[in-house]
Amino acid sequence: MLKVPHFKAKSNKVRRIAVLTSGGDAPGMNAAIRAVVRTTIALGAESFGVERGYSGLLDEMIFPMVPSSVANIIQRGGTILRTSRCPEFMKASGRKKAIDILKRDEIDGLVVIGGDGSFRGAHLLHNESGIPVIGVPGTIDNDIPYTEDTIGFDTAVNTGIELIDKIRDTASSHDRIFLVEVMGRHSGMIALHTGIGGGAESIIVPEVKTSIDQICTSIDRGVKRGKTSSIIVVAEGCQYGGVAPIAKELEKRGYSTKLAILGHTQRGGSPSANDRLLASTLGAVAVQALLSGVKEGMVGVKNREVVLTSFKKITGKKAGIPKELLSIAKNLAI
Ligand code: F6P
Repeated sequence: MLKVPHFKAKSNKVRRIAVLTSGGDAPGMNAAIRAVVRTTIALGAESFGVERGYSGLLDEMIFPMVPSSVANIIQRGGTILRTSRCPEFMKASGRKKAIDILKRDEIDGLVVIGGDGSFRGAHLLHNESGIPVIGVPGTIDNDIPYTEDTIGFDTAVNTGIELIDKIRDTASSHDRIFLVEVMGRHSGMIALHTGIGGGAESIIVPEVKTSIDQICTSIDRGVKRGKTSSIIVVAEGCQYGGVAPIAKELEKRGYSTKLAILGHTQRGGSPSANDRLLASTLGAVAVQALLSGVKEGMVGVKNREVVLTSFKKITGKKAGIPKELLSIAKNLAI
């Protein structure tokens, strides 16, 4: 259970709150949209949705939302508002256009559900317009600083583990080495957690250099201890750029390997209980913050408590990987 801060209701000028999802979709985004819309209306303000993130904002795709607009979506993956990555919004001219549209439609508060790139845009939008903007961390990568959890991460890890369990059944039946590629272009968080939960023999992440010799040593050590199969979890953004180059090197050294690329399967599916609760709580707190006069920042989780952090602190930084977990994983794989 998350501890939630108390926001004192103020008579401030925020009466019309819009919500958008931006960047890669993540399971639980719909639960967050639902929380934003319903909290906005429950607290007496008007709710609006923006389709396709910042791109949709530039295309003026803003529409009113009512409680029934978000009925029956808490259990659905993806995002009903749809999403996009929008390079135009990173240019001052693009943001100027978006600000004019928001002002014309009298939107006086915005909730952005997305990852670090989306928050960079949110921060600039707030600085250049004065419009209050609150970020809700929604990304399967869990790589945003000042929050220990992001919406979608738990579901993505659960999906990864479920698939690894299936791969292990066939790997052990055939005495095979499987290289399993998981998502994470810049972050090894999914690989690390999926690898530990799936009992992987090795975990290769972008944050730590791992030589082919080290991978071979871990396979050989397993064989010496009587293991007949190996699961090696690889983050797509590791130094080798995925499983294929690693497989090539291992084949050269006489190891026969099989590859499985989990890819976007990890971004889909019904959100876990953890992600639904996280998304519902953060979405609701984002609106409470706006209505109590908070101007900008991200709602996140620290020590099981919901906290607000200014975008200034977040932008340009990356959350590190817990290295202690990597050494735990290594010891568990002997
Ligand atoms: O940021 C979420 C994420 O799924 C990363 O793990 C992955 O590297 C990237 O998005 C893939 O992005 P796209 O779907 O645009 O190819």
